[in-house]
Amino acid sequence: MALREIRLQGDPVLEKKCRPITEVTPRIIDLINDMIETMYEANGVGLAAPQVGILKRLVVIDVGEGPIVMINPTIILAEGEQTGSEGCLSVPGKAGQVTRPNHVIARFYDEEMNECEVEGTELLARAICHELDHLDGHMYLEKVEGKLYDVNYDADEE
Ligand code: NI
Repeated sequence: MALREIRLQGDPVLEKKCRPITEVTPRIIDLINDMIETMYEANGVGLAAPQVGILKRLVVIDVGEGPIVMINPTIILAEGEQTGSEGCLSVPGKAGQVTRPNHVIARFYDEEMNECEVEGTELLARAICHELDHLDGHMYLEKVEGKLYDVNYDADEE
């Protein structure tokens, strides 16, 4: 496993639409393992493949309950509303207020290409929405209400 360089705001790779994964090759497994390691090293709760320069529909999330690896994820239910602080590993040291659904169900494939579902509320719902936005070239900055503020810790960053 190896750490990957996290691309920062302004890098064009963060504005592109990602392509589906059709086959879980050894290279994809390496990418998944590297993304998990990179996310933990950066104290993030989620990381999307474009953030390490790879335009594939793959995200990893860990809100403190162990890593979830999501291949070709889609949101099949989103309801309710939550407004809270949100950050991104591609925008280090900053956070802003973002409104997201408070309850989300997402469908995805795991590393064996089994179809799976995950249901999340609160932070997990927020992380799923945030990371899936990255796969379509969208950053949370588009949704920030008011001004970005400085954070001097990164435990809440996604
Ligand atoms: Ni992000």
